Amino acid sequence: MEKILEVKDLHVTFTTYGGTVQAVRGVDFHLNKGETLAIVGESGCGKSVTSNAIMGLIPNPPGKISGGKILFKGKDLTKLQEKKMRSIRGVDISMIFQDPMTALNPTLTIGTQLMEGLKQHRKVSDKEAKKRALEMMDLVGIPNPEERMKQYPHQFSGGMRQRIVIAIALICEPELLIADEPTTALDVTIQAQILELFEKIQEVTGVSIILITHDLGVVAKIADRIAVMYAGKIIETGTKREIFYKPQHPYTRGLLNSVPRLDAKGKLKPIDGTPPDLFSPPKGCPFTARCPMAMEVCNKIYPGSTTLSDSHSVDCWLQDERAKQLLATMVTN
Ligand SMILES: Nc1ncnc2c1ncn2[C@@H]1O[C@H](COP(=O)(O)OP(=O)(O)O)[C@@H](O)[C@H]1O
Ligand SMILES: [Mg+2]
Repeated sequence: MEKILEVKDLHVTFTTYGGTVQAVRGVDFHLNKGETLAIVGESGCGKSVTSNAIMGLIPNPPGKISGGKILFKGKDLTKLQEKKMRSIRGVDISMIFQDPMTALNPTLTIGTQLMEGLKQHRKVSDKEAKKRALEMMDLVGIPNPEERMKQYPHQFSGGMRQRIVIAIALICEPELLIADEPTTALDVTIQAQILELFEKIQEVTGVSIILITHDLGVVAKIADRIAVMYAGKIIETGTKREIFYKPQHPYTRGLLNSVPRLDAKGKLKPIDGTPPDLFSPPKGCPFTARCPMAMEVCNKIYPGSTTLSDSHSVDCWLQDERAKQLLATMVTN
């Protein structure tokens, strides 16, 4: 399978008056062509910083990519000049941002905003740009596109605005789409419609998608693979089946217990406590303080990655043979 994106040992820091925030602390993942990878984790764990790093949008200062590589079709984006990055952003890689209110300009018509990117990056006539904008509005399910193009953002509902934002992100036919919490601000019915729209768009255009969310429920339908992020690290990654049916990290299990599921037997149980402060993250596993299975070693040394299948790996001391032996003796005694 062709890998469209490979993130290797990515580190991002922010220098503030209070000290240095280690927002992303050695993140590794890849995205195959045409698939949807979900990055899931509680608020503050580094999801948006990771996606902004891929887009070349870490404000420097205070931010800095302090290590690692971001390979897009084999080319390291962290090495590119801003000018080159600008020609990739919105064209080869598009992003839908977390905040839907700031995504559209209230002073410009929807049509103008749709055609803007196209005119900027592709040599197209006004007529072609309009034709393409109408096609995109049709693709994302906006009725009466001819009239709707002349209207302003405030004349659209929240769900329709998000459809427009998606159309803008796709109009230059990017190969990679990063959607950062694209449905968080929408109510549940509209959320489901937007997720269906992502599926349809992938079928029609073949675009590879990174879907970022704090809600595992959102990814259940559309993700192929899931990466679980905690305190600036990816602590478990696997196919959707592996994560939902064979989760190994106590944090992944905690997340699964805290989302409503059709097959849920027990009650919803939020994870106690809060993620650690990233000014001085723990030396060992950052989940130790909240982990019901924590051992002595967890607090002191970060666990190595254990490979469970071609697609499934987890960073947890419980997977270590020595820990398994210790647990076995504890059960027999
Ligand atoms: N511009 C910034 N300056 C300082 N700290 C930042 C900045 N942006 C993000 N951070 C910090 O980086 C960490 C990760 O944030 P973020 O990626 O936004 O989390 P998530 O998207 O998973 O909720 C947080 O601790 C956050 O406070
Ligand atoms: Mg975020």
